[in-house]
Amino acid sequence: MKYLYIQTFGCQMNIHDSEQMAELLRGEGYRKTDDIEKADMVIVNTCSIREKAEQKAHSQIGRFRNLKKARPHVLIGVGGCLAQQWKEKLLDKAPFIDIIFGTHNIHKLPELVRDVEKTRAFRVETSFHNETRSLGVLTLPDNGCVKAYVTVMQGCDNYCAFCVVPYLRGREESRKAVEILNEIEALADHGIKEVTLLGQNVNSYGKTLGNGYGFSNMLKDIGRIRGIERMRFTTSQPRDLSVDIIKCFGEVDALCEHIHLPVQSGSDRILEKMNRHYSSRDYFEKIVRLKEICPRISITSDVIVGFPGETERDFNETLDLMESVRFDNLFSFKYSDRPGTKAALMGDKVAEEVKRDRLMKLQAVQETYTFEKNKAMEGSVVKVLVEGRSKNSSEDVMGRTSSNRIVNFRGNSDLVGKTVRARITEAYLHSLRGELIEGQV
Ligand code: 5AD
Ligand code: SF4
Repeated sequence: MKYLYIQTFGCQMNIHDSEQMAELLRGEGYRKTDDIEKADMVIVNTCSIREKAEQKAHSQIGRFRNLKKARPHVLIGVGGCLAQQWKEKLLDKAPFIDIIFGTHNIHKLPELVRDVEKTRAFRVETSFHNETRSLGVLTLPDNGCVKAYVTVMQGCDNYCAFCVVPYLRGREESRKAVEILNEIEALADHGIKEVTLLGQNVNSYGKTLGNGYGFSNMLKDIGRIRGIERMRFTTSQPRDLSVDIIKCFGEVDALCEHIHLPVQSGSDRILEKMNRHYSSRDYFEKIVRLKEICPRISITSDVIVGFPGETERDFNETLDLMESVRFDNLFSFKYSDRPGTKAALMGDKVAEEVKRDRLMKLQAVQETYTFEKNKAMEGSVVKVLVEGRSKNSSEDVMGRTSSNRIVNFRGNSDLVGKTVRARITEAYLHSLRGELIEGQV
């Protein structure tokens, strides 16, 4: 038996890509391990969406130098966005790497591994392919797993000025609907209760297929698959969030009461420089529509502070938008230059200390909103899909509300995979404490 150790950085998409890598290499006799000491192959699946992520990936690759010295037979693979960005140039810094494979070449991994096992010469495979072959690997999660991810499209055509994704994940390409629906049916047969649809901009699903079947059609069709109790999707460009998709929040029972809708900035001037194609008013109007259709919807977002040229006034407009929307949660980042992007070439860069101060201020404000929202749930009764045992206590189980909040409560493992009712007894910043209400949901 050979063992595979995979380390994943970055987004949900990368986590799912890693699952697919493991599944493909099962066919080559590799079993997953969490113990790097046991590994015959290590893969680092990298992210380079922000500078910090890229630095982390570089230092992780650097750590494999000693591993290769101590155990030369171990194969070292580097995949993901950093591999796509650096290609064979990675070898200058890290000549011990055996396989460099880009974001469109996951399906080639078995062939690459076989080749390197035989020849012991390194392989680099970073070409782009239009077809979405790398996405179609069915990975059935381990038994007892409640939720799974399904990639519906690859790439992005939006070219937001700060974003490196279109250069590293290629042009937008949707998978055929029938493939996706078959995959979700197989997951449902396997006992999966919740699916999350993944793509850089799922709202424009179907555009490249040109057959009139769009994301709202897909949500409705998945809503009819027996056994799938919940579905979520990520991530969305607000401009492409159509009325039809918004309506699904009122029409498709399985669609969770949560949307992640990255706004990036509350300043129209900055949104324009970012090439986002909406104003803060347009964004706010979509939020109003969503709340009309689904009053309890939870809204989370991403914000970048310190985009080139961002003034104190622009930043305050972001705070104003936050005050009017009151996001349930917000992921915020300091702007960092990414190679090849338009923003990297823009003048008027914001000083590091200013970015840091703005980020701290914004995060402090958001914490008060997040906590307020959680606190408001105390005493309420919610439906929770139980995912597994709680990390904090062996007597507790952990699940999520439809709004994606974590709830911990006393309960045994029989509850895993079931949707139960719980009364919220205490709210914290990152989770809720509850008590099980016995009986029918
Ligand atoms: N600098 C800072 N944050 C960025 N993001 C994307 N590119 C950059 C960048 N160059 C953030 C955006 C995006 C999230 C995934 O990462 O907010 O929505
Ligand atoms: Fe990047 Fe998202 Fe913009 Fe595409 S829509 S360029 S992935 S931020």
